[in-house]
Amino acid sequence: MEFDFATLDTAHRYKVLASTVVPRPIAWVTSRAPDGTANAAPYSFFNVMGSNPPVVALGILARPDGTLKDTAANIVAGGAFIVHLVSEDLAPAMNLTCIDAPPGVDEIALAGLATTPGTKTGLPRLVDAPVAFECVSRAAIATGPSQMLVVGEVLTAHVRDDAVLDAGRCHFATERLGLVARMHGAGWYDRVGTDMFRLDRPVWADRLLPETGS
Ligand SMILES: Cc1cc2nc3c(=O)[nH]c(=O)nc-3n(C[C@H](O)[C@H](O)[C@H](O)COP(=O)(O)O)c2cc1C
Repeated sequence: MEFDFATLDTAHRYKVLASTVVPRPIAWVTSRAPDGTANAAPYSFFNVMGSNPPVVALGILARPDGTLKDTAANIVAGGAFIVHLVSEDLAPAMNLTCIDAPPGVDEIALAGLATTPGTKTGLPRLVDAPVAFECVSRAAIATGPSQMLVVGEVLTAHVRDDAVLDAGRCHFATERLGLVARMHGAGWYDRVGTDMFRLDRPVWADRLLPETGS
């Protein structure tokens, strides 16, 4: 069945995209408003987009009333943010921070989350998150009225000690992070890595060997 986006309203376009592009990692983003108010909110329109330089992207939609979300406004004004990844034990707190609180409400305090200042950005880093990336904004592209694509460069990464196997070689026990990801619809999540299978990458030289007889 074809879903022609020219004939769909915004809500239905969202449903097609968010129900099929799954699972999506969750960026739990902290930022600060110009008046100093700290902010935290989850964003699953998120991924890593490069490693040289290391960049991540966030898709920040408009609020239902058509205004810019606090995270977008804070990043445009302040130029920095921290992306945290979410473990299952933190999922309820993450969910609480998506509450539609008015500007001026500190969702970090609301959710009772412990923080420490980021080493590069000085922004509140959620100490219980298993992974945190301190970022500076490299581009904030308006993709619609009050809708924004933010591209951030990662300045430093914090990874919980028990998931680090060999710091020098950057080998990690990813499964120990216990990450969750966003699924279709509101309120559905996936436990990352609980049903994996392996597929080795093909190498062209392996295909040539039988033909050359070597
Ligand atoms: C798991 C999860 C993922 C979300 N992903 C997004 C997203 O990718 N983009 C978006 O605009 N809103 C997303 N939201 C909704 C925002 O978190 C919500 O609008 C929040 O109130 C925004 O807060 P802010 O105004 O403090 O930035 C998500 C909510 C949840 C619970």
